This record gives sequence, structure tokens and C-alpha cells, in this order.
Amino acid sequence: SSKQELDILAAYEWLTKLYHHLIRFTKDGKEGYQYLRDRGISDEAIDTFQLGFAPNVRDFTVQFLKKKGFNEALLVNAGLVSLQNDNSVIDRFRGRVIFPIRNHIGKPIAFGGRSIAGGEPKYLNSAESELFQKGKLLYNFDLAKKHIRKQNEVVLFEGYMDVISSYQAGVLNGVATLGTSLTESQAKLLKRYVDTVIVCYDGDRAGVEATYKAANILRKAGCQVKVANLENGLDPDTYIQTYGGEAFKNEVIKASNTYLSFYMRYMRKDFNLSLESDRLAYLDIILNELAKLESVVEREYYVREISKEHNLSVESLSSEIESIRDKQG
Ligand code: CTP
Ligand code: MN
Ligand code: MN
Ligand code: MN
Ligand code: MN
Repeated sequence: SSKQELDILAAYEWLTKLYHHLIRFTKDGKEGYQYLRDRGISDEAIDTFQLGFAPNVRDFTVQFLKKKGFNEALLVNAGLVSLQNDNSVIDRFRGRVIFPIRNHIGKPIAFGGRSIAGGEPKYLNSAESELFQKGKLLYNFDLAKKHIRKQNEVVLFEGYMDVISSYQAGVLNGVATLGTSLTESQAKLLKRYVDTVIVCYDGDRAGVEATYKAANILRKAGCQVKVANLENGLDPDTYIQTYGGEAFKNEVIKASNTYLSFYMRYMRKDFNLSLESDRLAYLDIILNELAKLESVVEREYYVREISKEHNLSVESLSSEIESIRDKQG
């Protein structure tokens, strides 16, 4: 890597340590510490994820790093400070809890900063750069990697807090996309380590839409997809705070659905199944998807489900699928 990249890495390393020290041991970090404790985050997790606090001071970071010998231009390139109209520089992260975003060998290369008093935006990230490209990295991959390998399974979340709460619940193979759209490059990375990806996005509308998109990208990359079973509206972190870690592991992760059960539920929202015409159109879409399954056993499983639900004979459904398969070649 270039000299500039090494300097940026060094700046992030210094700041990660400083912000972490402030949140754990000083008055300057107390509001950040209280915020995390109120959200149920333990000291151990704060240490593991190197969480920190950036004080609400205009140039706290600039001054600290300048003393360490970093120049302003580098800090601008690192996405840590912003250039003002009058050419002065101002810290990008002020009064925020800091989530260091580590690369896949564990080095912080960016920060996510969460506002603690309702300020907007809720999360502010370091600007993207040569070094930090959101779409190419997965949050927590460095720590999760060995568990992902061992379990041959990864749990995919949306956000920082979902990963950290799940970690506290004992789910150690969790990573996050830091927003909602999984990229092909992230899917290929996962495929190198696992067969099965459990998508555990938020249970709100945006999360369900993002699940559908991510699932298809993952399937295209050759992954087996399961979809975690989250109650309407909750996200994994909120679920854990509400029902506890054991419930999360048993009722959400272990009880995750096959892609096809998710797909059947997902598609249903576009149809009014009490109308005959809608019902036929819906079944057509589902049977076409089912026809793509290579395993007879799997096909039969879903055929029985559909037969029960829509009061259609197993024989007619099966023969419809056979004829679709003939056409699909
Ligand atoms: N995100 C972001 N910028 C935002 C909102 C969200 O970068 N303004 C990213 C963050 O990585 C966040 C993830 O998208 O963790 C998921 O967003 P959301 O579900 O809205 O946030 P939560 O992770 O649930 O955050 P919190 O629990 O702290 O409210
Ligand atoms: Mn494990
Ligand atoms: Mn969300
Ligand atoms: Mn969320
Ligand atoms: Mn949340």
C-alpha cells in the first residue's frame, strides 16, 4: 500500500484507541458510555468491538492528530475531518458513539458514528475512499470468520448494533452490510467461506425488501439462503432487548425459514388471494419457482404445503410442475 494509505491506517489506529479510552475511562466519554450501557452493551463487548466516543468539540480530533504529526490534508483524505468554506478544518465526528469499521484483517479503516441525542443523521460514516469501500467489506468479518468456517453458516445483519447484540447473545458468526444493499462482491466473499447464509435483516418493510434482493444475489453466487424469522417491525437488536438472547437463538436463528417459504410469503403481498384470478396468478409464480428446485423431495414438501393451503390436489400441482419443468428444459 502507498505511504498515504499507511498514514491513514495509523490515524485510524490512534483515534480508535483514543475514543475507546475516552468511553471506557474518562468523563469526556461518559455520555457515550451511558448510551451504550442503556442499550444493554457490556464492557466486554465495548472492548471487543473497540467502541468509543468522539466528544462534541469542534476540532478535538484535528488537534490530537496534528500533535501526532499528521497533516490536515491527510485527515481530509482519511474522511475524518471536513474542510470548511473558510479553509479551516472541523472534526467529522462530534458527540457520537464510534463504531470502528475494521477491514478483514482487523484494522480500523473507517468509523460509523451514532448520534446519541436524536441528531441527524442517525449514523454518520467516514467518507468512502480507496481504502474504505462499503460494498466490498462486511462489518465484523475479521472476528466472525473462524466461527463462520466452523459452523459453515453466517448470519447477515443490517447494522452494527445487531451484530453486537447477537454477539452478546452468543451468535458469533454474524456480519453486517451496514445499510441495506448487499453487493455481488460481498456475496462472493461469503461463498468462499460458507454454504449457508441466514439473512437476518430488520423486520420492517425496508428490511423485507432488502432481504428479497440480498437473497437473490446470494443464490446467484451459489449460497443456500435461509431467512430469519423476525416479528413484524423489530430488528434483531430490538428483538434481543425485548425477548432475550435465548429466544433470539431459538425462535429467530434456529427457526429461520427456507428461501422458498420466505418467497411464498413475500409474493403474497402483491395479490388478493380471495380473488380467483389473483390466486391463479400467484400460484403460477410460485409453481414456476418451485419447478426450478432440483430435489424431488424438496418439491414435494412445498407441493404438500401449497396443496393444504389452497385446497388443491397434490397430483394436479405436481403435474403442473412437471409440465413447467419440461418447458424449462
Ligand atoms: N445506516 C447508515 N446511515 C444511516 C442509517 C443507517 O449508515 N443514516 C446503516 C448503519 O450501518 C446501520 C444500518 O444502516 O447500522 C441499519 O440501519 P437502521 O436499521 O436504520 O439502524 P440500526 O442499525 O437499527 O441502528 P440503531 O439500532 O442504532 O437505531
Ligand atoms: Mn461459534
Ligand atoms: Mn433497518
Ligand atoms: Mn435496524
Ligand atoms: Mn436497531
